[in-house]
Amino acid sequence: MAAPTAGVGGTPILLFKDIDEPGLRTLEVYSRRGGYESLRRALGMSPQEVLSQLEASGLRGRGGAGFAMGKKVSFLPKGSMDKYLVCNADESEPGTFKDRELMQKTPHMLIEGIVIASFAAGVNRSFIYIRGEYVEQADALDAALSEAREAGFIGQDILGSGHSLSLVVHRGAGAYICGEETGLLDSLEGKRGNPRLKPPFPANQGLYQGPTLINNVETLSTVPAIVAMGGEEYAKLGVETSTGTKLVSVSGHVQRPGNYEIELGIPSREIIYGLAGGPPEGRTIKCWFPGGSSSPVLKAEDLDIPYDFDSLAKARSMLGSGAIIVVDDSTPILDVALKVAKFYRHESCGKCTPCREGTNWTVKMLERIASGEATPMDLEIMASVQEHIIGNCLCVLGDAMAMPIGSMIAKFRDEFEEHIETARLRRGCNGAAASDTALAAQGALSEAPETMLAHTGEGDQVPGAHEGAPGTQRGGA
Ligand SMILES: Cc1cc2nc3c(=O)[nH]c(=O)nc-3n(C[C@H](O)[C@H](O)[C@H](O)COP(=O)(O)O)c2cc1C
Ligand code: SF4
Repeated sequence: MAAPTAGVGGTPILLFKDIDEPGLRTLEVYSRRGGYESLRRALGMSPQEVLSQLEASGLRGRGGAGFAMGKKVSFLPKGSMDKYLVCNADESEPGTFKDRELMQKTPHMLIEGIVIASFAAGVNRSFIYIRGEYVEQADALDAALSEAREAGFIGQDILGSGHSLSLVVHRGAGAYICGEETGLLDSLEGKRGNPRLKPPFPANQGLYQGPTLINNVETLSTVPAIVAMGGEEYAKLGVETSTGTKLVSVSGHVQRPGNYEIELGIPSREIIYGLAGGPPEGRTIKCWFPGGSSSPVLKAEDLDIPYDFDSLAKARSMLGSGAIIVVDDSTPILDVALKVAKFYRHESCGKCTPCREGTNWTVKMLERIASGEATPMDLEIMASVQEHIIGNCLCVLGDAMAMPIGSMIAKFRDEFEEHIETARLRRGCNGAAASDTALAAQGALSEAPETMLAHTGEGDQVPGAHEGAPGTQRGGA
């Protein structure tokens, strides 16, 4: 079956098909639009056949790490032990609001995707972990779940297939770190949401120590379309290593912010200018985050980079959650950096030193630039702090601050230097007084990176902080 309908510029629309149809969140309208047909089709196959379709589709996780979904399902051990499926609906990466629209407008699509994926993975217990602030979306899910239960799509012996599945919607309390898959599992178990050391990965030892498949809302919502089209047909969409369509949330300085479904691999310019209308009249783009606030920033000259996982990685950034944040030339880069750094400082769980201290040091250094207490030397120190964070943390929240801040320092050094100079003049320091202050501050700061690293060495009072430093762990299976 070919992709159902064509969107802007011929883009096939899978997830946002009928998205604004009134009542789509009800079982009646969803079923009228072909809903749960994919589930019927999947239950007529063997679990292995469904898994093969997922593998053939090339679908990569839409939550941030881009790990192949089919492969992740195949990592779950076979056998009759308790296994779990957890849908990550925490959607906490700044700039990301696509899962919210899916859950609010078409919750049955997610439920259908969960049931199909659970069948392929041999899982009988599932959860949707939704961030606490998403009250309307959680209510929509609860209502849809009741309807699905009543219709026999959830529960014992689904549609007479022999497959059974329980599904619970669990509301979180609102913490960025509970979007990290192992922090989420701890939170779901009723503990404080702290990341766990990996390995073991959740596929082997996840919720309640059982094998667990964790996928993002958009990833699971794509599953019905894959079953309807067939994995190979789905893989023809997009580009070789980034197949299919993707929801992008575009925000910041654009004329038409919102969620758009695009075919992976189209030029980024087409999204930012073509769909979102570009920056306001008379403004130009200073920089843009291609994949949420944790992605390294790109500049206007990068707008022709194809929007897909590997092209953005080659440009030393990332697709992440698909949240494009545009910053125009009216905003000082210092303000952008401060906003980002403060967010990650606030959300750091504090378990490991480079993240806990590094996010705090970075905010302090940026504040000194703003208040006119810094010298150009502070920029070097701040850049080196970022380098010392990357790859040295238990999870990648530390990197999530260090990568964008490092990229801003590298790409906007002149502007930072100008800030330093003008803020010092504004403060009214004479040369001697200014350099005394700066030297004293430098003395303290220049020890920061070593101090931070020393804390992550043997004998660190924070258990696991050093052993858990293998670098990018976001989204391992
Ligand atoms: C600090 C942090 C926050 C994260 N927040 C989210 C989130 O809100 N939603 C999400 O789906 N994945 C988030 N992730 C990624 C998850 O750990 C995991 O990779 C993802 O849920 C796997 O699903 P996928 O393979 O379908 O993308 C986060 C990761 C980190 C390190
Ligand atoms: S990097 Fe370390 S301190 Fe930061 S959130 Fe992750 S586990 Fe917590």
